Amino acid sequence: MLSLRSSTRLFCAKRLAYQRTVYSQASSDLKRVFSKIDDLKPRFIKRLKDAVAIPSVSSEPDRRNELFRMAQFIKSESEPLGVTLQQKELGLQDGVTTSKGEPIPLPPILQGTLKGSGSGKRILIYGHYDVQPANLEDGWSSDPFTLVEKPDGRLVGRGVTDDKGPVIAWINTIQAFKEAGVEIPVDLVFCIEGMEESGSEGLEDFIKQEKSKGFKGVDGICISDNYWVGIKQPVLTYGLRGVSYYSITISGPSEDLHSGLFGGTTYEPMIDLTHVLSRLVTPNGKILIPGIDEMVALLTPEESGLYDKITFTINDLKDALGNDTTIHETPKEALMSRWRYPALSIHGVEGAFSSPGAKTVIPAKVSGKFSIRTVPDIDLKKLDQLVFDHVEKSFASLNSKNKLKVELIHAGKWWVGDPNNWNFEAARKATETVWGVEPDMTREGGSIPIALTFEEELKKPVLLLPIGRGDDGAHSASEKLDTVNYIQGIKTMAAYLYYAGK
Ligand code: BES
Ligand code: ZN
Repeated sequence: MLSLRSSTRLFCAKRLAYQRTVYSQASSDLKRVFSKIDDLKPRFIKRLKDAVAIPSVSSEPDRRNELFRMAQFIKSESEPLGVTLQQKELGLQDGVTTSKGEPIPLPPILQGTLKGSGSGKRILIYGHYDVQPANLEDGWSSDPFTLVEKPDGRLVGRGVTDDKGPVIAWINTIQAFKEAGVEIPVDLVFCIEGMEESGSEGLEDFIKQEKSKGFKGVDGICISDNYWVGIKQPVLTYGLRGVSYYSITISGPSEDLHSGLFGGTTYEPMIDLTHVLSRLVTPNGKILIPGIDEMVALLTPEESGLYDKITFTINDLKDALGNDTTIHETPKEALMSRWRYPALSIHGVEGAFSSPGAKTVIPAKVSGKFSIRTVPDIDLKKLDQLVFDHVEKSFASLNSKNKLKVELIHAGKWWVGDPNNWNFEAARKATETVWGVEPDMTREGGSIPIALTFEEELKKPVLLLPIGRGDDGAHSASEKLDTVNYIQGIKTMAAYLYYAGK
């Protein structure tokens, strides 16, 4: 009779042999998928071009029909591949109308499934098909809604990296499996929204409704809606900052006035507003609202050590900024400021004169917009109260006769997950297979508030698997995605699905 030890050894040896067969099998299947991805490159670029051509800007009410066109485009590209997508309507958008005063519907959520070979896990893929606004005048070198292939391999156009590129990349991945004749070893569930850039209105309720229906049985979530930190090193991401967005409205005289007639005779809303805004943050980024720093989790030596391992230089940051306007001298300080400390940004002023030329107007009512990126352990309700109190106090100290209103426009919570689970393991292996290096584990400064909702509602691990680079210029003029990242990104997605199913 075999002793327990030797039988275990035998069992392990058997398992090893079995695994070896599976992996060699896996690699030949994966190789077929990869080579199909290479073959289909022109088709994949054309698909992205068609997607970019639809100006699906969620923050521009007059373009709402473009979001419906975009949803339709995704549906029509996916359905021939066997993906059943349903267009889920969410009703009218709160408090927003077109320029003609008509109410507008929220963009639909595309929800659907693709049955895999049945052996593996059930993975929910989230992405968004809406994009940020883009106008030629903002500094684009070409029409933002016409994809341009640059000789150096850059694909330039609004949404290429955020988030049309990744959404289209998932469709491409499915096509490659299908045409290579390889079964996808996991079941897929899709949740593709059209309101992410405008606060994901309606999505949280949708997830709560669907957790026991369409999203039932999901084992893990994969979100591809972020970027590498630098330009060479692939990453997997396990944390995001939250964002709380505020407006300060100051109203004074009953209508806009001529500054020659009234300058010096009335309290001016724009003067009040600049004073109040200037008391929010210092030029080097220190938030001046008391009480926020005290809520930020303390840096442990263990966490501090993690930043030393990230492939990122201060020059990477300078390259992404386009010059050397960095606040910090070291990459570690810069990364910590981006990932684990709050930041306050002032975005703009509604109602103020902002055209070229020199109009001598006194605006009667202005709204300053600012946001705070939030981090563990900031309590969002407490934060709102601190912001309101501070702004009211700053305004009161001006002794102005104007009226002040401070409001929270939207808030999404920060998220820090645990990267030690099968979901990250599959993505780590996929990254190594495609890029030949181990990915860095990163947090990010941007926000995808729905990541936390998925984790809390479905109680399953969320993984962020980016395909673009840190210098892609998401939200900026001349947003790009490098063709290598697009194609290798599709391969990484394919390998991820493959390993997640094994
Ligand atoms: N893709 C970004 C989120 C992101 C940015 C993740 C940078 C990681 C790094 C997303 O499209 C986005 O811009 N989200 C908004 C959310 C907001 C409107 C609630 C953001 O971060 O401003
Ligand atoms: Zn995005």
